Amino acid sequence: MATMRLHTDNRTIDAPDEIANLLGGEGLVYRHWDVSKLGEGLRDNYVLTEAEKAEILAAFGAEVDALKAEGGYVAADVVVLSEQTPDLDTLLEKFKCEHHHSEDEVRFVVDGHGVFTVRGRRGRDIELTVGPGDLITVPAGTRHWFTLAEDRRIKCIRLFQDPTGWAAIYDERPDHGPSRCA
Ligand code: LAC
Ligand code: NI
Repeated sequence: MATMRLHTDNRTIDAPDEIANLLGGEGLVYRHWDVSKLGEGLRDNYVLTEAEKAEILAAFGAEVDALKAEGGYVAADVVVLSEQTPDLDTLLEKFKCEHHHSEDEVRFVVDGHGVFTVRGRRGRDIELTVGPGDLITVPAGTRHWFTLAEDRRIKCIRLFQDPTGWAAIYDERPDHGPSRCA
Protein backbone atom coordinates (compact mmCIF):
# COMPACT_ATOMS: atom_id res chain seq x y z
CA MET A 1 0.00 0.00 0.00
CA ALA A 2 1.04 3.53 -0.62
CA THR A 3 2.18 6.05 1.96
CA MET A 4 1.96 9.75 1.32
CA ARG A 5 3.97 12.49 2.96
CA LEU A 6 3.27 16.19 2.60
CA HIS A 7 6.61 17.99 2.77
CA THR A 8 5.08 21.23 3.95
CA ASP A 9 3.80 19.96 7.30
CA ASN A 10 5.56 16.57 7.34
CA ARG A 11 2.20 14.83 7.71
CA THR A 12 2.04 11.16 6.74
CA ILE A 13 -1.14 9.67 5.29
CA ASP A 14 -1.70 5.92 4.98
CA ALA A 15 -5.44 5.59 4.31
CA PRO A 16 -5.89 4.69 0.61
CA ASP A 17 -9.11 6.72 0.31
CA GLU A 18 -7.49 9.79 1.77
CA ILE A 19 -4.48 9.39 -0.54
CA ALA A 20 -6.75 8.98 -3.57
CA ASN A 21 -8.81 12.04 -2.60
CA LEU A 22 -5.83 14.24 -1.93
CA LEU A 23 -4.07 13.20 -5.13
CA GLY A 24 -7.35 13.54 -7.04
CA GLY A 25 -7.48 17.17 -5.94
CA GLU A 26 -4.06 17.57 -7.57
CA GLY A 27 -5.16 15.91 -10.82
CA LEU A 28 -3.43 12.60 -10.09
CA VAL A 29 -5.06 9.19 -10.04
CA TYR A 30 -4.31 6.67 -7.32
CA ARG A 31 -5.78 3.17 -7.32
CA HIS A 32 -4.93 -0.27 -5.99
CA TRP A 33 -5.11 -3.48 -7.99
CA ASP A 34 -4.76 -7.03 -6.70
CA VAL A 35 -1.29 -8.44 -7.42
CA SER A 36 -1.86 -11.78 -5.72
CA LYS A 37 -2.96 -13.37 -8.98
CA LEU A 38 0.57 -13.06 -10.31
CA GLY A 39 2.69 -16.14 -9.61
CA GLU A 40 5.55 -15.84 -7.09
CA GLY A 41 8.08 -16.58 -9.84
CA LEU A 42 7.07 -13.55 -11.85
CA ARG A 43 6.96 -11.26 -8.82
CA ASP A 44 10.45 -12.04 -7.51
CA ASN A 45 12.12 -12.24 -10.87
CA TYR A 46 13.92 -9.01 -11.81
CA VAL A 47 15.61 -10.36 -14.94
CA LEU A 48 12.62 -10.90 -17.19
CA THR A 49 12.51 -12.40 -20.64
CA GLU A 50 10.19 -10.84 -23.21
CA ALA A 51 7.86 -13.81 -22.73
CA GLU A 52 7.72 -13.21 -18.97
CA LYS A 53 6.98 -9.51 -19.53
CA ALA A 54 4.12 -10.52 -21.85
CA GLU A 55 2.85 -12.87 -19.15
CA ILE A 56 2.78 -10.03 -16.60
CA LEU A 57 0.94 -7.76 -19.05
CA ALA A 58 -1.55 -10.54 -19.78
CA ALA A 59 -2.21 -11.13 -16.06
CA PHE A 60 -3.41 -7.52 -15.76
CA GLY A 61 -4.91 -7.41 -19.26
CA ALA A 62 -8.44 -6.50 -18.17
CA GLU A 63 -7.30 -3.70 -15.83
CA VAL A 64 -4.83 -2.34 -18.41
CA ASP A 65 -7.42 -2.39 -21.21
CA ALA A 66 -9.95 -0.52 -19.06
CA LEU A 67 -7.36 2.09 -18.14
CA LYS A 68 -6.32 2.44 -21.80
CA ALA A 69 -9.92 3.18 -22.77
CA GLU A 70 -10.30 5.61 -19.87
CA GLY A 71 -7.12 7.62 -20.41
CA GLY A 72 -6.44 7.26 -24.13
CA TYR A 73 -3.39 5.08 -23.58
CA VAL A 74 -2.37 3.04 -26.59
CA ALA A 75 0.67 1.07 -25.47
CA ALA A 76 1.89 -0.75 -22.37
CA ASP A 77 5.16 -2.33 -21.32
CA VAL A 78 6.94 -3.75 -18.28
CA VAL A 79 9.89 -1.88 -16.81
CA VAL A 80 12.29 -3.12 -14.15
CA LEU A 81 14.84 -1.30 -12.01
CA SER A 82 17.08 -3.30 -9.69
CA GLU A 83 20.71 -3.88 -8.77
CA GLN A 84 20.83 -6.05 -11.89
CA THR A 85 20.05 -3.05 -14.09
CA PRO A 86 23.51 -2.22 -15.51
CA ASP A 87 23.05 1.56 -15.53
CA LEU A 88 20.91 1.80 -12.38
CA ASP A 89 22.83 4.66 -10.73
CA THR A 90 22.91 6.71 -13.93
CA LEU A 91 19.17 6.24 -14.37
CA LEU A 92 18.48 7.20 -10.74
CA GLU A 93 20.62 10.34 -11.11
CA LYS A 94 18.33 11.39 -13.97
CA PHE A 95 15.05 10.40 -12.32
CA LYS A 96 15.83 12.35 -9.14
CA CYS A 97 15.85 15.64 -11.06
CA GLU A 98 12.57 17.47 -11.37
CA HIS A 99 10.97 17.01 -14.80
CA HIS A 100 7.68 16.63 -16.60
CA HIS A 101 6.37 14.82 -19.66
CA SER A 102 4.13 15.77 -22.56
CA GLU A 103 1.94 12.78 -21.73
CA ASP A 104 0.69 11.18 -18.52
CA GLU A 105 3.13 9.10 -16.48
CA VAL A 106 1.27 5.91 -15.62
CA ARG A 107 2.89 3.31 -13.37
CA PHE A 108 1.34 0.19 -11.89
CA VAL A 109 3.68 -1.38 -9.33
CA VAL A 110 3.84 -5.14 -9.69
CA ASP A 111 6.63 -5.54 -7.13
CA GLY A 112 9.16 -3.48 -5.20
CA HIS A 113 8.73 0.16 -4.23
CA GLY A 114 9.16 3.63 -5.65
CA VAL A 115 9.01 7.18 -4.34
CA PHE A 116 7.32 9.74 -6.56
CA THR A 117 7.34 13.37 -5.48
CA VAL A 118 5.08 15.79 -7.31
CA ARG A 119 4.94 19.56 -7.04
CA GLY A 120 1.41 20.22 -5.95
CA ARG A 121 -0.80 22.98 -7.21
CA ARG A 122 -0.32 25.22 -4.20
CA GLY A 123 3.45 24.88 -4.15
CA ARG A 124 3.53 21.94 -1.76
CA ASP A 125 5.58 18.88 -2.54
CA ILE A 126 3.72 15.61 -2.21
CA GLU A 127 5.83 12.49 -1.70
CA LEU A 128 4.15 9.20 -2.47
CA THR A 129 5.80 5.89 -1.68
CA VAL A 130 4.18 3.18 -3.78
CA GLY A 131 4.37 -0.59 -3.47
CA PRO A 132 2.87 -3.76 -4.93
CA GLY A 133 -0.63 -3.16 -6.30
CA ASP A 134 -0.40 0.64 -6.37
CA LEU A 135 -1.32 2.49 -9.55
CA ILE A 136 -0.37 6.12 -10.00
CA THR A 137 -1.08 8.45 -12.90
CA VAL A 138 0.80 11.75 -13.01
CA PRO A 139 -0.85 14.04 -15.57
CA ALA A 140 1.09 15.49 -18.49
CA GLY A 141 2.92 18.66 -17.52
CA THR A 142 3.03 17.91 -13.78
CA ARG A 143 6.54 18.44 -12.37
CA HIS A 144 7.82 15.44 -10.44
CA TRP A 145 10.86 13.36 -9.56
CA PHE A 146 11.46 9.76 -8.64
CA THR A 147 13.70 7.52 -6.62
CA LEU A 148 13.76 3.98 -5.31
CA ALA A 149 13.04 3.00 -1.71
CA GLU A 150 15.23 0.92 0.63
CA ASP A 151 14.69 -2.29 -1.35
CA ARG A 152 16.22 -0.54 -4.38
CA ARG A 153 14.00 -2.32 -6.83
CA ILE A 154 10.73 -1.84 -8.65
CA LYS A 155 8.81 -3.65 -11.36
CA CYS A 156 6.09 -1.66 -13.10
CA ILE A 157 3.63 -1.76 -15.92
CA ARG A 158 3.78 1.54 -17.83
CA LEU A 159 1.06 2.90 -20.09
CA PHE A 160 1.65 5.42 -22.86
CA GLN A 161 -0.46 7.84 -24.88
CA ASP A 162 2.30 8.26 -27.45
CA PRO A 163 3.75 4.99 -28.75
CA THR A 164 6.86 6.65 -30.24
CA GLY A 165 8.82 7.01 -27.04
CA TRP A 166 9.12 8.31 -23.51
CA ALA A 167 10.94 11.59 -22.98
CA ALA A 168 11.54 13.73 -19.89
CA ILE A 169 11.64 17.52 -20.01
CA TYR A 170 13.96 18.96 -17.36
CA ASP A 171 13.78 22.64 -18.35
CA GLU A 172 12.70 25.26 -15.94
CA ARG A 173 9.26 26.63 -16.59
CA PRO A 174 8.29 30.13 -15.51
CA ASP A 175 5.05 28.87 -13.97
CA HIS A 176 6.84 26.28 -11.85
CA GLY A 177 9.90 28.13 -10.58
CA PRO A 178 13.39 26.73 -10.79
CA SER A 179 13.98 23.05 -11.44
CA ARG A 180 15.57 21.07 -8.68
CA CYS A 181 17.38 17.83 -8.15
CA ALA A 182 16.08 16.06 -5.06
C1 LAC B 1 9.97 8.59 -15.41
C2 LAC B 1 9.80 8.56 -13.95
C3 LAC B 1 10.86 7.86 -13.26
O1 LAC B 1 9.93 9.65 -15.98
O2 LAC B 1 9.50 9.81 -13.43
O3 LAC B 1 10.15 7.50 -16.00
NI1 NI C 1 8.79 11.14 -15.02
